[in-house]
Amino acid sequence: MSRGAFDSPLAKLRELAYKRRETEPEQQMNATLSPIDKAKFAAARRAVDAVEDGMRVGLGTGSTAAWMVRCLGEMVRTDGLRIQGVPTSSRTAALARDCGIPLATLDEVKWLDLTIDGADEFDADLNLIKGGGGALLQEKIVATASDQMMVISDAAKEVATLGAFPLPVEVVPFGWRTTKALVEELLIGLDVMGHEAALRMNGDHPYYTDEGNHIIDLSLHRIGNPRQLSMVLNQVPGVVENGLFIDICDRVVIGQPDGSVEIRDINAATVEHDRIDFCESENLFRDELS
Ligand code: 5RP
Repeated sequence: MSRGAFDSPLAKLRELAYKRRETEPEQQMNATLSPIDKAKFAAARRAVDAVEDGMRVGLGTGSTAAWMVRCLGEMVRTDGLRIQGVPTSSRTAALARDCGIPLATLDEVKWLDLTIDGADEFDADLNLIKGGGGALLQEKIVATASDQMMVISDAAKEVATLGAFPLPVEVVPFGWRTTKALVEELLIGLDVMGHEAALRMNGDHPYYTDEGNHIIDLSLHRIGNPRQLSMVLNQVPGVVENGLFIDICDRVVIGQPDGSVEIRDINAATVEHDRIDFCESENLFRDELS
């Protein structure tokens, strides 16, 4: 081929497209996804193996849960999986619709077989901090209304003691400053290391949840008694809900960038190991690339 042919923009595009087709899926993925995304994907891909035909499935919110929604969408489109998904946020609802997952509201299905969601932190008892993505209220309602809750995560979110991640607390906008002051005051008497509370912002404006509430993030550094803290916080009148999920999660699937996964079941006291073959999920990475 003459040098002139490569110089034309169209020829360059063709050449790039050819090279892309030639690249193996795993190489494409390696070139595109960060190690943390690969770990999140591996956890999500393994978790959807628990979804069976006819199930009502709670769909979590966040970047890890988004992988799970994409995996389920692929199973619906390609394998004919029949499920009803109950999304935990407007963001997840939009993604699930794009992926072709039939959706229902919690009021329509009333109870769920399984919820799969991400977390900001989890401890050895599978107690969680959630709400980094601002969806803790719907997430807690949906997870509590499920026979099983499965958390999908990368290994970095496992902690010995909850609290390094700021604890989100959803509060009604009315009188939020008073609510924040009351929360700060009650923290003084509790087994936590920090007492700082900050209104979550979205640029120059307070962040609004799907329910039209605000979020106050508590920098506690160490939560000595998560169960007690959760109960006490929810007694403050302006508090709607907090991001501590106590005795709600049944299983955690921890993904690694190399595709290996660990599945811990707190009720059965079992630990299982498995491996995800990234090549089999080529279509999903194409979706991600497009
Ligand atoms: C949203 C959440 C998310 O599950 C949590 O923030 C984890 O998100 P990601 O998977 O993006 O790390 O609780 O409210």
